[in-house]
Amino acid sequence: MAQLWGGRFTKETDQLVYNFNASITFDQKFYRQDIEGSMAHVCMLEKQGILTAQEKADILKTLKEILSEVESGKLEISTKYEDIHSFVEANLIDRLGDTGKKLHTGRSRNDQVALDMRLYTRKELLETDELLKELLETILKIMEENLDTIMPGFTHLQKAQPITLAHHMAAYFEMFGRDRQRMHDIYERMNYCPLGSGALAGTTYPLDREYTAELLGFYGPTLNSMDGVSDRDYLIEFLSALSTIMMHLSRFSEEIIIWNSNEYQFVEIDDAYSTGSSIMPQKKNPDIAELVRGKTGRVYGALVSLLTTMKGIPLAYNKDMQEDKELSFDAMDTAKGCLALFRGMLATMKFNKDRMRESANHGFTNATDAADYLVKHGVPFRDAHGIVGRIVLYCLDKKIPIDAMSLSELKAISPVFEEDIYDAISMETCVNTRLTIGAPGVDAMKQTIEKEKAFLADD
Ligand code: ARG
Repeated sequence: MAQLWGGRFTKETDQLVYNFNASITFDQKFYRQDIEGSMAHVCMLEKQGILTAQEKADILKTLKEILSEVESGKLEISTKYEDIHSFVEANLIDRLGDTGKKLHTGRSRNDQVALDMRLYTRKELLETDELLKELLETILKIMEENLDTIMPGFTHLQKAQPITLAHHMAAYFEMFGRDRQRMHDIYERMNYCPLGSGALAGTTYPLDREYTAELLGFYGPTLNSMDGVSDRDYLIEFLSALSTIMMHLSRFSEEIIIWNSNEYQFVEIDDAYSTGSSIMPQKKNPDIAELVRGKTGRVYGALVSLLTTMKGIPLAYNKDMQEDKELSFDAMDTAKGCLALFRGMLATMKFNKDRMRESANHGFTNATDAADYLVKHGVPFRDAHGIVGRIVLYCLDKKIPIDAMSLSELKAISPVFEEDIYDAISMETCVNTRLTIGAPGVDAMKQTIEKEKAFLADD
C-alpha cells in the first residue's frame, strides 16, 4: 500500500478498505492524460516563478520517460498504488527525489482527476465523432447507388407506401448527422480546464490558469473552483449522446435483422459479419446486429447510473464521483466498438434489389396513389378512400395486386378509372412524383444528397 496522504494517520488502512477505496485498476486508463496534465501544470508553475527552469526541465524529462516506459510496457502500472495520480507521482519522486515532490504544488487530486477525466472524455468524443463520420460516408455511398432501388416503406411494420433504399438510408443519415452535431455541441460546452480549482477553493499560489488551459488545448479555465472539481455534466451529456447513438444503431440493427430474416430476404449480411449454429448447419445468424442492439442497454445503464450517482452529492468533491469512471469507460468503448462493427457490416451487406422491388409490388403500397388518382379526376378524397378500400378487398379475394385488375374490373367499382391509371400507380410513378423536400422521388433525393455532402464536407 502506497499512499500520498499518510501523514496524519497512525494506523494502516484496513486491507478491505484499501481495496474498496482504490481506483488504479480502472483509472490507469487515463495515465497519458494524467501525465500530460502534470506537464502543463509544471510549465505553468515555472512560468509563474514557483519552480525553477531546472526543476521544470527535470520534471518534464522524467514525466516523459515514465510515459514512454508505460507505453512500451517497460514500466508496469502497479496496483499497489491507490490511483494513477499516486503511481505517477511516486515514480517521479523515486527518480527525482525532492524535485519530484514539488510537482503537486498548487494542485489537489480533486482538480487533477477532474482534468484527467475531461481530457479523456474529450479524446473519446473526437474519436466517436470520427467513427460517426465514417458511418455517414458509408450510408451516403449506399444512397448514391440506390436512388432508384424501390422498396416498401413501413408503418406499424406493415407495408405502407413505396420508397427507395436511398430514402430509407437517408433517414439514418439524418439521425447520425444529428449525433455528430451533438458531439460538436458538447465539445463547445466542455472544453474548459478545471485545473487550478485546487481541492475546492482555488489556491494561494499565483497560478496562471489561462496559460495551463491554453497549453492543454482548452478554450479557457472553468470559472468556479467548486464547480470545477465537482462538475460531471459534460460526462452526463456525452453518455446521453452515446445512448442516443446506440438507440439509432439499435433501431438500424433491428431493421437489418428483420431484412436479413428468411421471410424478408431484403439483405444478406456478409459471411465475415455473420455467425453459425453449433447444431443447425444451415444457420447464418445476424449476431453482430443483435449484439449492437443488446449492448445498447449497457450504455443506457451507464447514463442512468451516473445521473443517479450525481443527484445527491453536496458541493464540492465527494468520493462518490470516483464511480463516474468504470461505467463511462465501458460505455465509451462499447459505443465506439459498435459504431466500427456496424459500419463494416453495413458496407459489406448485399441488398437484394429484386426482392425489395417484388415486396413493394405486393401489399397495396400504391393504394394511396390510386385514391389520389380519383381525387385528381374530381372524386372527393373520402369517397376515393372508400372506393380504393373496396378495390383492395376485391384484390385480396382474388389474390392479385391492384395493377393486375383489368380496366373493366376497375370501372365496375368506379367509372372514373381510365387506361392511364396503370401508369399513375406504377411503383416508379408513386416514388418519383413525391418531390417535396425530404421525399423519396429521385430528383428530391438528389437535392438531399447534395446537402448531405455539404454537411459532411463542412468539418
Ligand atoms: N480516485 C479519485 C477519483 O477518481 C481521485 C480523487 C481523489 N480525491 C480525494 N479527495 N480522495 O475521484
